[in-house]
Amino acid sequence: MTTEHMTGTPSMTITPLTSGAMIDASAVKDPAKLDLPAIVDAFKTYGAVVITGCDIRHAEFVAVTERLAGSFMEYVGGANNDRDSAYGASKTVLTVTGGSAAKYAIPLHGEMFYTLPRPETLFFCCINPASENGQTTICDGIKFWAALPDEAKELFETKRLAYRRIYNDDAWKKVYKTDSLDHVRALCAKNGVQLTEHEDGTIETLHVCHAYHDVPAGRAFINSVLVWMAREYIEGIQDSKVRFEDGSELPKELMYKIHAIGESLTQNIDWQPGWLAIVDNMRVMHGRRSYEDGKRDIIMRLSDEPLGVTALAAE
Ligand SMILES: [Fe+2]
Repeated sequence: MTTEHMTGTPSMTITPLTSGAMIDASAVKDPAKLDLPAIVDAFKTYGAVVITGCDIRHAEFVAVTERLAGSFMEYVGGANNDRDSAYGASKTVLTVTGGSAAKYAIPLHGEMFYTLPRPETLFFCCINPASENGQTTICDGIKFWAALPDEAKELFETKRLAYRRIYNDDAWKKVYKTDSLDHVRALCAKNGVQLTEHEDGTIETLHVCHAYHDVPAGRAFINSVLVWMAREYIEGIQDSKVRFEDGSELPKELMYKIHAIGESLTQNIDWQPGWLAIVDNMRVMHGRRSYEDGKRDIIMRLSDEPLGVTALAAE
């Protein structure tokens, strides 16, 4: 499929993937000339797009994302405490990996689905891919939900999830980027996250929500269950637990089946320098293959807006 904007913008070729779609913009080359309405249309259809052929680096990434979204989030309340700025003093252009960052595989997840607020749209840009592996993975939650066994759909429609996280004194200061517990209390109260303060100085957050999210295109299976279960049951880390709201554990055999279904619908993004990926965080889960190369450098931005709403309306 090709697009030709009425203004004479050079055409892009859109190729559907197992999840999401690839947009070849090599005929456009200049990221400032990208046909943004056509990109937004493809994004709405496929839930995620990977734009190639425009050699987008830090400065171009900032410029393109700011034409596509009006506001960006700092990474506050997220599980990964080591996300540094990737662009000068900007607090919204973040490193995903690089340097000493962990290189393990990350199962499919929606970004920050264990808390609120959570981003609507994710932007990833490849500065340098790993020499081997290290692909970002994407999986369309609508296809994922449709492929779940009836037993799983019934379970997740009947029971909500409860994500419980325990932070010691050091951890919550890093996660919430503040020394003020009052600030954390206010943030949790504002977002409907339950906060419990324990006598030993640890705090506990509890967020209850469904394992799916309904979007205009349908019901999407999107959550943080696979990451949290791998962390607790495979790595043996005890600070984060996901259960059903009634306290019962998620059935492990069923979750292994669900993991396999997710794999069958997953698209690897085989990064090349200058590629840009945009992911609907209300619909499409993402993750990462493991890698060894410390030079892998992917940067990201999180927007609290659906793609294109503010900026395109203003153009
Ligand atoms: Fe993520």
